[in-house]
Amino acid sequence: MTDPCAIELRGVHKRYGNVNVLADIDLRIASDEFCVFVGPSGCGKSTLLRLIAGLEDASDGDIEMHGRRVNDLPPAERDVAMVFQSYALYPHMSVHENMAFGLRYRKLPGAEIERRVKAASDMLQLGALLERRPRDLSGGQRQRVAIGRALVREPSVFLFDEPLSNLDAALRVQTRVEIARLHRSLGTAAMVYVTHDQVEAMTLADRIVLLRPQAGANGLPSIAQVGAPLELYHRPANRFVAGFIGSPAMNFLPAIALAQAGDALSLRIAGQACLADVDASGLAPQAAITAGIRPEHVQLGDGPLSASVTHVERLGEHAYVYLRLSDGQALLAKVEVERLQVGDTVALQLPARHLHVFAANGGALPRRGVALA
Ligand SMILES: Nc1ncnc2c1ncn2[C@@H]1O[C@H](COP(=O)(O)OP(=O)(O)O)[C@@H](O)[C@H]1O
Ligand SMILES: [Mg+2]
Repeated sequence: MTDPCAIELRGVHKRYGNVNVLADIDLRIASDEFCVFVGPSGCGKSTLLRLIAGLEDASDGDIEMHGRRVNDLPPAERDVAMVFQSYALYPHMSVHENMAFGLRYRKLPGAEIERRVKAASDMLQLGALLERRPRDLSGGQRQRVAIGRALVREPSVFLFDEPLSNLDAALRVQTRVEIARLHRSLGTAAMVYVTHDQVEAMTLADRIVLLRPQAGANGLPSIAQVGAPLELYHRPANRFVAGFIGSPAMNFLPAIALAQAGDALSLRIAGQACLADVDASGLAPQAAITAGIRPEHVQLGDGPLSASVTHVERLGEHAYVYLRLSDGQALLAKVEVERLQVGDTVALQLPARHLHVFAANGGALPRRGVALA
């Protein structure tokens, strides 16, 4: 039988008592995929990971790994290794012992244990630190040991729960790159990675699973969208995804649908007619809608709209210009060059090919001609 995927969840629900923590989870993760669960705090990311690990029981639904139902298998029999935010190292053991301990416990031959510890410590550049105790390591080194302890198990699935959250910003970026390299060099292992940080999700994932507190039937917590990072950036399925992916966040402006104009929708924003390259069939004329535009796509200097500058932040490579449109709505623009002062009036345009449109229920209208590259 061919191996269909590393992990498959079908109709998975999780309740604690009568509190629904996750509902209607359907998901397949390929055996070489880097899959990132992202979403706001409390939306059920860790719970979903722990269901896969076997640390929690599903209230409903099936969890399969490599085509076999694992709902009733304990964590040790699921061929997964987990890395937590708190490194959970044994303080009285050396780095070497921390990595070897689980293998000894499972009674692997000594030579095999040495081979695996050497391979993992080479891959993670821990070779010079093997005799140290955790207290004599930096935070980044401790997290590498925790990853090493997962590596030596040679599992088919790695589960990471916010592994970089305890590191400072520079180390977070460095370790992020190391984890991406690790995935590439392992080749055949699936990685499932939980984070609340959309930049980590965008940079690491083959596919992002964005969780949302009210995404499922009856407003229960579930999956808001699954897709490649740029798919979520360019084609968010709804307003929640549009606002979550991208930094600074997308601007949302109230608008009125006017008419389909060829391939575009004509709409009114702040009293002015604008165009958006979306398919508006099914939208009632004069429908109240929401227009969305990312700060990096607002064009200043020319165009039908007018705004006053309320604040400017200069970061060197670019600047954030805070604007107020004539109808009082706030708008943020990210621009490379500006000579604007607070109080200036500036003309601007929201290019049709960059304008997102959301119906009253929050669903995105399909965008036309969006390249994902
Ligand atoms: N053992 C538990 N009993 C009751 N509620 C829980 C338990 N564990 C988690 N929850 C609740 O489940 C929700 C999701 O938690 P969690 O998966 O930790 O979220 P995330 O990792 O996305 O921050 C939260 O509202 C949390 O309070
Ligand atoms: Mg969590």
